[in-house]
Amino acid sequence: MRSPRHSQRTGLRVGLVGLGFGAEFVPIYLNHPDVESLTICDPDATVVAAVGNRYDVSSRSDDFEALLDMPDLDAIHLVTPIPLHAQHTLAVLRSGRHCACTVPMATSIADLEEIVTVQRASGLVYMMMETAVYTREFLYVRERLRGGAMGRIQFLRGAHYQDMERWPGYWMGLPPMHDATHAIAPLLALSGSRATRVHCLGSGRMRPQLQARYGNPYPIETAIFGLSTGDAALEVTRSLFDTARAYSERFDVLAERESFEWAQIDSGDQREGHVLFAMGAATDTRGRPVQMTRVEAPDRGASFPKPSGASRGWASTTRRGLTVPSSRAAATAARIRISCTNSSAASWRGDPHRSMRSRPRTGRQPALPPMTPRCAAAMRWTFRALPGPRSAPG
Ligand SMILES: NC(=O)c1ccc[n+]([C@@H]2O[C@H](COP(=O)([O-])OP(=O)(O)OC[C@H]3O[C@@H](n4cnc5c(N)ncnc54)[C@H](O)[C@@H]3O)[C@@H](O)[C@H]2O)c1
Repeated sequence: MRSPRHSQRTGLRVGLVGLGFGAEFVPIYLNHPDVESLTICDPDATVVAAVGNRYDVSSRSDDFEALLDMPDLDAIHLVTPIPLHAQHTLAVLRSGRHCACTVPMATSIADLEEIVTVQRASGLVYMMMETAVYTREFLYVRERLRGGAMGRIQFLRGAHYQDMERWPGYWMGLPPMHDATHAIAPLLALSGSRATRVHCLGSGRMRPQLQARYGNPYPIETAIFGLSTGDAALEVTRSLFDTARAYSERFDVLAERESFEWAQIDSGDQREGHVLFAMGAATDTRGRPVQMTRVEAPDRGASFPKPSGASRGWASTTRRGLTVPSSRAAATAARIRISCTNSSAASWRGDPHRSMRSRPRTGRQPALPPMTPRCAAAMRWTFRALPGPRSAPG
């Protein structure tokens, strides 16, 4: 049980665990105006050293248990492998720290219920770090819905297509609905609903070696949900294996006056715009005319928080070949602006951080990829939402 003293504090003291995808968050924390310090942790000491040296982070650990014993942490962000989410989350909450965990929250009902029970008893904040509710597309559609342009939602459809070939072992054969949050969450959020019932079907067959680990034969699962509010139904499809479909986190919202459909090809040179369908006035012919317009969801970079003046600066060359200045504030502002021009859905795929272990390091300030807007926005949301640290029950 820990009760950090507030009097001399300038911000939150954050622990970040799991430095694969988690490494993307390091510069965000270092520049976040509400963050006082960052400690990084991963059992792979080589990764800790590489990330720590890259971003000049001196507080490091290669032992999760030791991190939990550190007295000077307020919040711990878990970006660890899926099978560890539940046990790590419970350990963090029981240590008296706020907990943020990457998706999914857990993969069994028992684990989900235990996390809810422990979080409620602790009074601490838990956040599942759902990045799909910060995309430009999500914000665009939410704005149109809230402004009344779209009218009543009639149907929602989401999909997350991905090929997990050669990903870490715990992914191999994972039932697709164990990791479907990117498809479900934005649509529940847009409709302001909770799922009240569900029918789910497995579809297709994976090759036999993929079926062994989880006893799951399905490369794709598809589900239809009943919702707590409104009259619409929600349909979601998730694919992980043996299916020829390019990566996409996408959704369609069919509504009375306007409907939004996510571009079928949403990355690369062939990228096409999303489509906004607008219902026209009735004429004297059958059916009403529907106007179809290709649209781009606008950039929201200007709404990002101003970086902390106390944070570390670093210079870098972005994927687009722009040199980001080394001045701390300018570096972050430029980085965030640049990252917001990238497709959010494409941000994690092919991220150079993933191959960090095999890449030779050439100095303390090598070229860095831009941060994804989804990560930055998620962090901003988290720290606005966090109340002061409290003590957890023993
Ligand atoms: N947009 C998103 O929300 C998004 C994107 C990518 C990944 N993720 C999630 O992030 C998590 C990590 O993804 P990844 O691709 O980096 O996974 P990964 O398996 O490649 O890497 C996870 C990291 O955690 C470390 N790790 C392993 N065991 C650990 C332990 N016991 N304690 C602490 N750290 C441990 C590993 O050494 C590794 O560096 C996954 O749960 C994934 O679902 C979410």
